[in-house]
Amino acid sequence: METVVSGIRSTGNLHLGNYFGALRNFIKMQQNNRCFFFIADYHSLTTHPDPSVLHDNVRSILTQYLAAGLDPEQSTIYVQSDVPEVAELYLLLNMQAYIGELGKTASFKDKARKNPDNVNAGLLTYPVLMAADILLHKADKVPVGKDQEQHLEMTRLYARRFNNRYGIEFFPESQPYNFGSELIKVPGLDGSGKMGKSEGNGIYLTDEDSVIRKKVMKAVTDSGPTEPNSPMCDGVKNIFTLMDIVSQPDTVQYFKDKYNDCSIRYGDLKKQLAEDIISAVAPIRQRIAEISGDEHYLQLVTRRGAEQARESAVKTVAEVRQIMGIKSF
Ligand code: TYM
Repeated sequence: METVVSGIRSTGNLHLGNYFGALRNFIKMQQNNRCFFFIADYHSLTTHPDPSVLHDNVRSILTQYLAAGLDPEQSTIYVQSDVPEVAELYLLLNMQAYIGELGKTASFKDKARKNPDNVNAGLLTYPVLMAADILLHKADKVPVGKDQEQHLEMTRLYARRFNNRYGIEFFPESQPYNFGSELIKVPGLDGSGKMGKSEGNGIYLTDEDSVIRKKVMKAVTDSGPTEPNSPMCDGVKNIFTLMDIVSQPDTVQYFKDKYNDCSIRYGDLKKQLAEDIISAVAPIRQRIAEISGDEHYLQLVTRRGAEQARESAVKTVAEVRQIMGIKSF
């Protein structure tokens, strides 16, 4: 049985990128693997969230995890900051991380460009904390979206460096969990890149049907194909990519044929996409409403999760200390 570790930052609500890029895969893996899923609240501190909303954010991500189908009977579900060993491993792994490499990380450069007034050291060493999350449980596999691929490469780099430096095969080289296809990138509907919290283009699991319809109807397109089989602009391509994820294959094919013979009406395409997104999201939204008021259940899940996570965390950190030569008197 393989060990699987993955996390989601506790900022805002889960969007379709989180769900289809990550969470849905987490759910599939629970039965056949030893899974650890956590809410990365330390990571969210890199952008200085307001302390008065931090806990509520953790609570809503936890609720959404559970509502979407993560099962605490099968997996260990915990809050990152409930496992203090992660902070110690982060400190120790920082010795394997070179500033030059960290400064070149795509996510760091992107965040630094967008928020030039808040380029803090936590942001720079974000991939090291992520490596600590993963190596704490010696993960074989890490199910993440494409946007996290580089962070995972860095995790392997630190693991290798640690093993080489101390001449021991201790950390595994954690691999992305691959479902036989490419890692999924869920696009935004604003005509550009990926769907993301920071990008402000999310369709959320908590969105009401009417909100989903409104967001989809605003999706960026062009004025329509004028010649058969003409290439698609980025906006239209993104609509089809999302459709590939949420709609039935024959529905997608129907609209592709219409695009190719120039008879497509983007209004119809968007309406169909909105309804298919709603079919995927509405049952989860209902479960969120049921679970979110159940304080006792949330407490039970996180306490038990932290206890289970600490079992492997304490062991790993003790071994790392020993390998690095840290001893108590
Ligand atoms: P975060 O919170 O940004 O995203 C959580 C998960 O959702 C995936 N994802 C996407 N996948 C496809 N298309 C998209 N548009 C999209 N947007 C988000 C992400 O790949 C991720 O799997 N650093 C991580 C959290 C983290 C973590 C870890 C993950 C902390 N420690 C250890 C794995 C292992 C992050 O910010 O993800």
